[in-house]
Amino acid sequence: MNERAFAAWCEQQRGRVETALADWIPVDAPAHLGEVMRYAALGAGKRLRPLLVLAAARAVGGLDIAALRAACAVEVVHAYSLVHDDLPCMDNDRLRRGQPTAHVRYGEARALLAGDALQAFAFEILTPADDTVPLPLQARLCSLLARAAGTFGMAGGQAIDLASVNCRLTEPELRTMHRLKTGALLKGSVRMGAATAIHALSAEARDALDNYGDAIGLAYQVVDDILDVTANTGQLGKTAGKDAATDKPTYVSLLGLDGARALVERLYQDAMQALDLTAPLRVDWLRALAGRVVHRER
Ligand code: IPE
Ligand code: IPE
Ligand code: MG
Ligand code: MG
Ligand code: MG
Repeated sequence: MNERAFAAWCEQQRGRVETALADWIPVDAPAHLGEVMRYAALGAGKRLRPLLVLAAARAVGGLDIAALRAACAVEVVHAYSLVHDDLPCMDNDRLRRGQPTAHVRYGEARALLAGDALQAFAFEILTPADDTVPLPLQARLCSLLARAAGTFGMAGGQAIDLASVNCRLTEPELRTMHRLKTGALLKGSVRMGAATAIHALSAEARDALDNYGDAIGLAYQVVDDILDVTANTGQLGKTAGKDAATDKPTYVSLLGLDGARALVERLYQDAMQALDLTAPLRVDWLRALAGRVVHRER
């Protein structure tokens, strides 16, 4: 793997996504709603989900214009999920991406509405009025994103998270919560990228990409749990130590730090093994992104 080429690719793709988001998210929405949406979506995120979409699209030789839209749409849903996750009625956080959270800056009502509007806007991004994205692909991307974000995806997982404060979950229960609240959107990102393929994928390749998405999706939240304990607020851009302070069940509370780290390593191996079964796809950047997921420090 060429590290420098991968880093340059990430930089370039992040730039494309950020430029498109800045162009597309409205400035002139009613009552300054656009300002709150832009504040939430354009801050200093890692853009991991867009990179997964674009790396999966590259792997399958996908339609680039559709992949860029899918990358932006999933990032916008993620941004909405963070705004709502930070609200006082949920995690009650005051710092996000190194800045005051949206409700601290703009008040709860406007933050809530900006989240709502961002979620809907993601589907506007996926359904351009011109003919650049074929209608069946628009429908497929909408379906994948709705399912990743909704009842049996992120929102369902967030419901389990809130219902689990002060509870001890078993490992299978915690796994389900993490797979839904975080894993679903990461796996959905890989699926959306793969869906842009111009030539249909084999069932084996599709299953292998799903297994990859499952493994890194869970690993991502386990690492988030670990960083909540091991990293500091400055590094994270969000308040460290919140999970223990609010008695949330996490992989660190269940398995301890060493156990959680060992699980991340196993999931990384699972992800890499899954990609062994994707030939002839070009999965080198998906491999590299898996490495970034497990070795990240923020
Ligand atoms: C934070 O996501 C919330 C989780 C699902 C763990 P990220 O760690 O991807 O946050 P940003 O987008 O880089 O701010
Ligand atoms: C993931 O969980 C939240 C979402 C699905 C938005 P956390 O609540 O742990 O995320 P952070 O730590 O606040 O970023
Ligand atoms: Mg939360
Ligand atoms: Mg939170
Ligand atoms: Mg967390």
